Amino acid sequence: MKNRDLQATWKYHDGTKHSYWSIRKSPHFLDWANRPLPFKIYPKIEPFSMPQDLPQTGVSVLSAISGTVPSLGTDSVPGVEDLARLLYFSAGITKQRAYPGGEIYFRAAACTGALYEIELYVVSGDLAGLEAGVYHFNPADVALRLLRKGDFRGNLAQATAGEPAVAHAPATIICTGTYWRNAWKYQARTYRHFGWDNGTLLANMLAVSAASGLPAEIVLGFVDVEVNRLLDLDVRREVCLCLVPIGRTSESSLPAPKEAPALGLETIPLSQREVEYPAMREMHDASSLESVEEVNQWRAKPPVLLSSAQTGEAVSLRPPPEEDQPKDTTEQVILRRGSTRTFDRAASITLAQLSTILDNATRGLPADFLEHSGAQLNDLYLIVHSVQGLKPGAYFFGREQSALELLKEGGFRADAHYLGLEQELPADACADIFFLADLKPILEQYGNRGYRAVQLEAGAIGGRIYLATYALHLGATGLTFFDDDVTTFFSPHAKGKSAIFLLAIGRPLKRQPQ
Ligand SMILES: Cc1cc2nc3c(=O)[nH]c(=O)nc-3n(C[C@H](O)[C@H](O)[C@H](O)COP(=O)(O)O)c2cc1C
Repeated sequence: MKNRDLQATWKYHDGTKHSYWSIRKSPHFLDWANRPLPFKIYPKIEPFSMPQDLPQTGVSVLSAISGTVPSLGTDSVPGVEDLARLLYFSAGITKQRAYPGGEIYFRAAACTGALYEIELYVVSGDLAGLEAGVYHFNPADVALRLLRKGDFRGNLAQATAGEPAVAHAPATIICTGTYWRNAWKYQARTYRHFGWDNGTLLANMLAVSAASGLPAEIVLGFVDVEVNRLLDLDVRREVCLCLVPIGRTSESSLPAPKEAPALGLETIPLSQREVEYPAMREMHDASSLESVEEVNQWRAKPPVLLSSAQTGEAVSLRPPPEEDQPKDTTEQVILRRGSTRTFDRAASITLAQLSTILDNATRGLPADFLEHSGAQLNDLYLIVHSVQGLKPGAYFFGREQSALELLKEGGFRADAHYLGLEQELPADACADIFFLADLKPILEQYGNRGYRAVQLEAGAIGGRIYLATYALHLGATGLTFFDDDVTTFFSPHAKGKSAIFLLAIGRPLKRQPQ
């Protein structure tokens, strides 16, 4: 089983670390003439336009991300409007701006480099307004394209070893990653970005799903080759990352798995030429599950219980009561979100605001790799610059205690500037939230696929932090970082952990009128 050869993850992870010198020595430059197309286009398939004038859910984003919205009961079957809402608010185009290199179509969820390498597909039975089939979603024209006609949900049930959420879902959304579209800029580090960018998108998808009263969860346990084949992916270029079953039906009979022959469908090339980074494909292969037995074993793993006893001075989170928290709806907040480009260094946020963000964003993801809803693979560490009610310093977020433990007191703006790849954003923010994970026990338990889970979880919680921050009319941005320096900064507490993800939050600098 390749998944158990853990050296593969360490080789990839260590080989894609950023350091002061790796950045300076890299000869990589952006070849604008060869910039990849941001959309997957099937030129010969007729589009099926999705409805665009959708009824609003009216559900506050904070309740949608914190899992406090009740679902619709035993039978909750999405219709075409629900699917359209889910797809648009996860991956749809929400803004458009002209740049010297061309037009950039910004999407609902944050994505490294605005390169949008995550594609979405739908595998559904017959739904109100949509015939059973395997579809690709193109955000450029908000349309589905039918790749296979008929009900292929039995294939997914088989590939996931009968995962109940998949077997009972009227529709499943599948997320894939397209290597070159992101590797054009980020080279082999793109495999980490798959998890991050898929994660932010999933935060939106799960929020919209909850707001629509539809159960949904992240499924990482599946036989890779079977799902890739169903979507007819050219796996040298694009691979399935996760499944999200949507809704639930009590109907117990699924059609038997069907043959899924190669389709050889034409797609428009992304660039004139593509550069291969074998390290990514090796990481993907090494974390692939090869049989139903392996999926079953993978899923049966007990949870990794990671908890750190609190030793230092701690400040309890103080979120205001739910009725006093902002009620901005899921759709409003997703449309408002856009990464902050400059933070106001003179501004501060309150402990109540930081508490609202952390509390709502970390209540646990619905995911098959987490045994119970409160479990989490990543630990959160913070550098606090200007939060009223908190001393500036470095903190560990004890989720179980719902408290921030002071690791060291001091002004660390210069350190944050350095750790965040010498960018101004983490230095000017009010707080920087670092995700670190103890990869050793996680990999021992889950194999290399644990690495996918860690990156994806960080992206999804990061995406929820984005949403909570914008619900409060504050700003946030994802950031990249110097891996080992982050661990050193938070050590001895973080000794042995790996840096996974970084997000800065604060107040956007208001532009002065010209
Ligand atoms: C995981 C992650 C890392 C990011 N890293 C950086 C970064 O290092 N520097 C930066 O300026 N923006 C960074 N961004 C912000 C992206 O550039 C931004 O999300 C993208 O341009 C899309 O714009 P939007 O978020 O406003 O929709 C990051 C975003 C994510 C999700």
